[in-house]
Amino acid sequence: MAAFFAQGPCRLRPHFKAHKTPEIARRQLAAGSCTGLTCATVGEAEVAAAFCDDLLIANEVVTAAKCARVSALAAHVHVTAAVDSLAGLDALSSAARAAGTRVGVLVDLNVGQGRCGVEPGEAALTLATRAAQSEGIELRGVMGYEGHLQPVRDRAERESRTREAMQWLVRTAALIRNSGLPCPVVSAGGTGTYDISGRVEGITEIQAGSYALMDTDYGSVGVPFEPAFWVLGTVVSRPTRDRCVADCGHKSMTKDHGYPAVRGIPGAVVTSLNDEHATISLPPESTVKIGDLVELLPSHVDPTINLHDVFYVVERDEVVDIWPIAGRGYPDQRAAILS
Ligand SMILES: Cc1ncc(COP(=O)(O)O)c(C=O)c1O
Repeated sequence: MAAFFAQGPCRLRPHFKAHKTPEIARRQLAAGSCTGLTCATVGEAEVAAAFCDDLLIANEVVTAAKCARVSALAAHVHVTAAVDSLAGLDALSSAARAAGTRVGVLVDLNVGQGRCGVEPGEAALTLATRAAQSEGIELRGVMGYEGHLQPVRDRAERESRTREAMQWLVRTAALIRNSGLPCPVVSAGGTGTYDISGRVEGITEIQAGSYALMDTDYGSVGVPFEPAFWVLGTVVSRPTRDRCVADCGHKSMTKDHGYPAVRGIPGAVVTSLNDEHATISLPPESTVKIGDLVELLPSHVDPTINLHDVFYVVERDEVVDIWPIAGRGYPDQRAAILS
């Protein structure tokens, strides 16, 4: 990913939410081509501020308490948050004024996902104008996440729809600049569209995250990244020749993007998950037995990692390190548990 972004004007802003793990984020930044990190939550930004001085919270932050935390961070690092409402803008502005800091904002546009975001064009310009006039706020640009296009399997369709979505962003950025306001940042993209959005003229940074560790869902989209993590379970039952059960279920992996895949056992397929069980169908000749370890490749990286406290880092079957998943939240409570 770093090599791809070394070749164009667009930069990479890896999304910390995918793994919430400082050791991985440090490696992503060290690999180069980065302009900072993307975060989804204020808590992630607080953790990331210890090792990165340019953070984008690519999400709306609206409560007084969270805006105060963002404003406090702005005293130490360059911090930018997404806004899509006057209410959100006013909340950030009040908090920044109270803290005596300046918080950057990107006007969040709906580029087709239908989640957060104002409509491109005049509505975005109105909010950008208000942002430029708000005390404690620095208008830094626009963002728009084409999340609905990340999983489009057909490459040609993904390309054409992504380019179209990016035009909404680029044109709105031009509208803002033509009205005399600054709009240096145009932020978008994810693992499924990084090489499409990242080559659209006018897009300045890409917020991809899953690429670093991958999951089976992105594995079927045809992006050139390999899975780097899995959940390790133990076979606790082999009740029939064509079935075994491992001791890891919903509490270890999510299935919102489908069941996990089984690594290294030909013909093995997860057929159901319960709280503490993964039921796996096996070819009858399989030699899998009680006590064996099974490696399960999750279908969705972010929420699966969010279920765990640490990564066990493995080189050639040996655990060589343990990395805290420190961005999950409640850092003080977690530090106490891990110490
Ligand atoms: C706002 C935003 N930007 C970017 C991403 C891209 O992340 P990924 O590369 O993991 O798809 C996401 C993922 O959900 C997101 O919500």
